[in-house]
Amino acid sequence: MYNFEYKNPVKIIFGKETIGKVAREIPKDAKILLTYGGGSIKRTGVYDQVKSALQGFNLLEFGGIEANPHYETCMKAIEVVKAEEIDYLLSVGGGSVLDATKFIAAGALYENGDPWDFLAKSGKVNVEKALPIGAVLTLPATGSEMNGNSVITKVATQEKKPFGSPLLMPQFSILDPECVFTLPNKQVANGVVDAFVHVFEQYLTFNVNSPLQDRWAEGVLLTLIEEGPKVLANRKDYQAAANFMWSATMALNGIIAVGVPQDWATHMIGHELTAYHGIDHARTLAIVLPGMMHVKRHSKKDKILQYGQRIWGITEGSDDEKIDAAIAKTIEFFESVGIPTKLPEYNVPVDTIAKISSRFEKSGLKLGEKGDIDFKEVEEILNDRL
Ligand code: NZQ
Ligand code: ZN
Repeated sequence: MYNFEYKNPVKIIFGKETIGKVAREIPKDAKILLTYGGGSIKRTGVYDQVKSALQGFNLLEFGGIEANPHYETCMKAIEVVKAEEIDYLLSVGGGSVLDATKFIAAGALYENGDPWDFLAKSGKVNVEKALPIGAVLTLPATGSEMNGNSVITKVATQEKKPFGSPLLMPQFSILDPECVFTLPNKQVANGVVDAFVHVFEQYLTFNVNSPLQDRWAEGVLLTLIEEGPKVLANRKDYQAAANFMWSATMALNGIIAVGVPQDWATHMIGHELTAYHGIDHARTLAIVLPGMMHVKRHSKKDKILQYGQRIWGITEGSDDEKIDAAIAKTIEFFESVGIPTKLPEYNVPVDTIAKISSRFEKSGLKLGEKGDIDFKEVEEILNDRL
């Protein structure tokens, strides 16, 4: 196992009828900006619950944050934060609203120019200050509620990029599983697959003798496989919703990543598909992941075999046959929750593959846990999905 340091200061408030507790968590003298998306919180009643809990607080609102949140929209929010001297951000919504709120939190206090620097010059320009953030999460999927990451899209240049900082971890996140009751099938399926692939990015690498982390990761995968379909079958099944929600948080709060190598290539390639074609994040992962498993079948062999055996009970055949069976089972699971896994099913034109691979060629970025996935392999992975 590798050396590691781990600190997660996010206070999780989990369970039924917990949204009202938001009032306890925010300083009474704060000037709050409540950020939200396209209006689901108004239809579901979450907005009313938050507003009634925060009566008497100094509260402004900024709505209209898109799924795959736009840099351009975040910059408008930053203007509001500055003009109104906001000192606390409250994100009420899914991962997109929270990611946007993180960008706003860092961007509002950035003094050296355009906050897009955090993404464009990732690793060189770091977040040094950020406004405090609280979150009421309405969609289990991203893990953003318990991590310091954010992914933002710049419409003008069709770019979607991640950035992160421990300073962007929410001070608290309220997770009320009843929020799942109002999710359309599509968003439940997206959440299950996104969380599933988060586990993969931290598990399907190479062996470093970390049996505990492996079993945590496998525990999250098995729970998603069991509980996801229950949520799809009965949206009012509170226990299934709760187990799904907690699994999604555990998939990306850093705990399963401690002491082990991480990949994230599927995400980086998936972001390009969203940037060019607006495909939902989780769906891009369902497309890319089987191609990744196929192309990296040698360097990921031990872990794919372990995954196949422990998750799907695959024990028969040669190693190659077992790997093929593990890939087939993964595809079958994604499709069983209603997510297609091939590029043509999303009407992606073939020339997108060359566009994406040429972006990686220009940036020189090499992906994967071994840093050995270059633009040619990116092309191979995507060609596998035609
Ligand atoms: O915008 P509103 O009207 O609120 O509607 C949303 C949106 O249309 C709706 N929704 C949310 N909660 C609902 C609801 N509808 C009914 N009932 C509810 N309770 O669902 C739609 C999708 O919401 P969104 O926030 O976009 O989904 P998600 O949470 O999956 O977030 C996706 C974004 O997160 C990024 C993705 O790239 C993508 O931009 N990610 C962030 C990560 C992180 N910060 O760690 C990691 C992930 O890998 C991912 O990249
Ligand atoms: Zn993801």
